[in-house]
Parts: sequence; structure tokens; C-alpha cells
Amino acid sequence: MVRHPFKLAPSILSADFARLGDEVRAVEAAGADLIHFDVMDGHFVPNISIGIPVLQSLRAVTKLPLDVHLMIEHPERYIEAFVKAGADSISVHVEACNDTRAVARLIRQFGARSSAAVNPETDVREALRVADELDMILVMSVHPGFGGQEFIPASLDKLRYAREELERRGLELDLEVDGGIKVDNVAAAAAAGANVLVSGSGIFGASSYTAVITQMHQRLAAVDLLTP
Ligand code: DX5
Ligand code: ZN
Repeated sequence: MVRHPFKLAPSILSADFARLGDEVRAVEAAGADLIHFDVMDGHFVPNISIGIPVLQSLRAVTKLPLDVHLMIEHPERYIEAFVKAGADSISVHVEACNDTRAVARLIRQFGARSSAAVNPETDVREALRVADELDMILVMSVHPGFGGQEFIPASLDKLRYAREELERRGLELDLEVDGGIKVDNVAAAAAAGANVLVSGSGIFGASSYTAVITQMHQRLAAVDLLTP
């Protein structure tokens, strides 16, 4: 395995849900660092996906951290249940929170790592202003709701701005990018400042998970060498 500081998080939204446990075991064996778990409520986003009982079942099949991305209204109502079901980190959308700082604090109080997510049209400063209560910021690089969309190039500027601002303030938060990440652009997102790279269709759409995850790790290892 090539060494580098970046983490690869397959999004199981693009997995075969009829064989979900096996899919998670397969990406773990192939070299994934986290499992990205997308929750959609049909209100905050037009789609509906999976929820608490599925997370609880997956907790038993993998040792990897479960990175829960809540694309739901009123996320504060469900934090405790997701942590109890096995979430290691929880991202809530700033667009869905009346008080993002309070929700972030709640996530930490229940013992998970807190993260604020921003949609493509949302200023990343909405997350940065509550950075003192955060362990991670999630920059959406597609409009949330569906896997398999094209990466929005302006997300790179947003990542760069967020990483520079965090460095300026001396904060070592994780910066996660989510949407449209493939072998060909994973290095660009990492070079722009993301250190947690989510990929759904880019990984689960590949014929060999080991091959695609290895290729991504190789591209990421090259970024590490280029970055001063
Ligand atoms: C989009 C989800 C993403 C999605 C990524 O709403 O939050 O995590 O599954 O899928 P790809 O990598 O296919 O864009
Ligand atoms: Zn996601």
C-alpha cells in the first residue's frame, strides 16, 4: 500500500443494496479508509436513500469508520440515533440547520466527529464560521441527491479557499469533497486542499474495486510528493 495523508471514502449510494454487507467488505479489503453513508429524506433533497437500521447492520460488518452524510431536514432530531447506530462522523448541511454551531456541538456531545456540509451554491464561510465546533468541513462538488453526476470545477476554488483559511487560523480540520470524484480528478481535489475524498460511482461502477482504489491511492501519493 502506498503511503500518503489522504483518505478514500467509497460512497455506498452506488453499491448494490441487495448485497450491501459484501460490498462494504469488498471495498474495505480493496483499501478504502472510510465508508461514506448517504442519508436522504425526500425533503432536503428530492431522493430517498437509507437510514438508521441499515447503518446499524453495517456497523457489524466493517471496522472502518462510518462517515454519515445527512442530507435531511431537522438533522438535530436524529443525531443521537445515528451515533448509537455506529456513526463515527456526522455531516449536517448548513442549509438544513437553524443553528449549525448548536448541531455541531450536539454531534460532539454524543461522541461523534462533527462536520458541516455546504452545497455548491453555498458560501463555504457558512461552515468556516463555526469551525471551532467542527472536526471536518464537507464541500459538495455536485448538487446533492444523486450519485453519478459530473464534478463541478468551481469546487476546487472553494476547497483551496477553505484550506487556506483553516491554515491561516491554525486549524487542522479534515476537508472532505463529495461528488463526481474519479481516478482522473482525485489528485486535483487533493491538491486543492481536500484530504478526505468521497467516490461513489467512481468506485462502485468499476469492474475491480481493488484496481480502482489502488489507482486512486497512487494518484493521491503523487500529490503528496508535489505539495511542499
Ligand atoms: C450525493 C452524495 C454523494 C454521492 C457521490 O448526493 O452525497 O456521496 O454518492 O457519488 P458520485 O461519486 O457518484 O458522485
Ligand atoms: Zn455524500
